[in-house]
Amino acid sequence: MNSPGKPRVGVLYSRVRVEEKLLFEAFERRGVTLDLIDDQKLIFDITDVDNHPYKHYDVIVERCINHSRALYSLKILNDQGVKTVNTALCADICGNKLMTTSALAAARVPQPKALVAYTAESAIEAIERLGYPAVLKPTVGSWGRLLSKVNDRDAAETILEHKETLGSYHHSIFYIQEYVKKPGRDIRAFQVGPETICAIYRTSPNWITNTARGGSSSNCPVTPELADICTRAARACGGGVVALDLFEDPERGLLVNEVNYTMEFRNSIAPTNVNIPERMVDFCLKVAADGWAAANGWPDEGRRLASISLTEGASA
Ligand SMILES: Nc1ncnc2c1ncn2[C@@H]1O[C@H](COP(=O)(O)OP(=O)(O)O)[C@@H](O)[C@H]1O
Ligand SMILES: [Mg+2]
Repeated sequence: MNSPGKPRVGVLYSRVRVEEKLLFEAFERRGVTLDLIDDQKLIFDITDVDNHPYKHYDVIVERCINHSRALYSLKILNDQGVKTVNTALCADICGNKLMTTSALAAARVPQPKALVAYTAESAIEAIERLGYPAVLKPTVGSWGRLLSKVNDRDAAETILEHKETLGSYHHSIFYIQEYVKKPGRDIRAFQVGPETICAIYRTSPNWITNTARGGSSSNCPVTPELADICTRAARACGGGVVALDLFEDPERGLLVNEVNYTMEFRNSIAPTNVNIPERMVDFCLKVAADGWAAANGWPDEGRRLASISLTEGASA
């Protein structure tokens, strides 16, 4: 750390939402003064790795709304040797459903079956291979936006035609997932480094249960099974502070649907009675003091470095 006393902490943000306000207050309670870095005003000198303005920070906390801004900023900062929460590696994997699925598969974490295709014709074939209903998702996106439950071939053809005609390039990366028959709810779990700190059930009459779409939240106990799958999934995605979506499959048990890296948590503090922002602040201060591996509880430095290439500079 640069100073023996208080760590120097920056927050890279887009807007001060409820979550940012709660985080600012939690840092304040620790006596840490934050520097706020507005991503709308930011200009990075991407070529300057020696005298850039962020080199004195012990950690920078990323709270951008836009995935590309978050990812690029974290990449630049990590390459400049600045520690961040989360890392560029984590953002790169978690910010893209295809990348997440691939990383979870490599780590043998149970998840719904998913296929990827690049043309409308092969996408139809993939959907038929999975069987109806299937779920078509943009690889980058959140709040349940632009998700399609494809119930039959007619719907598949219509949706794919719309995507091909109206969508941008990203809409021709077809990420197709099996539809999991959930018991009217799914699980949102909060992982802070090595610990699954709490979880909620999100219940909704709609198949899309996001609280941003009206799903209601209630406490979900953190069982050893839930903690184990979340910890393995988070590690597969580079570690850090993440929120995981899980399905309870009647036959296969828990399946990880996705992992979110700039997590929202406003609706989860009251039902769980866990002070999520406090726990996030603890993690950020641990990263500042002891580094990414220690904060994540990874004792085996060699294995960690073998699995992390993108952000080696940031993780020491
Ligand atoms: N394959 C699926 N089977 C059943 N429900 C799904 C499936 N995929 C998504 N959902 C529902 O839609 C919600 C949003 O999907 P998700 O993949 O988490 O995208 P987002 O990034 O928009 O939150 C999930 O929380 C879940 O309720
Ligand atoms: Mg989700």
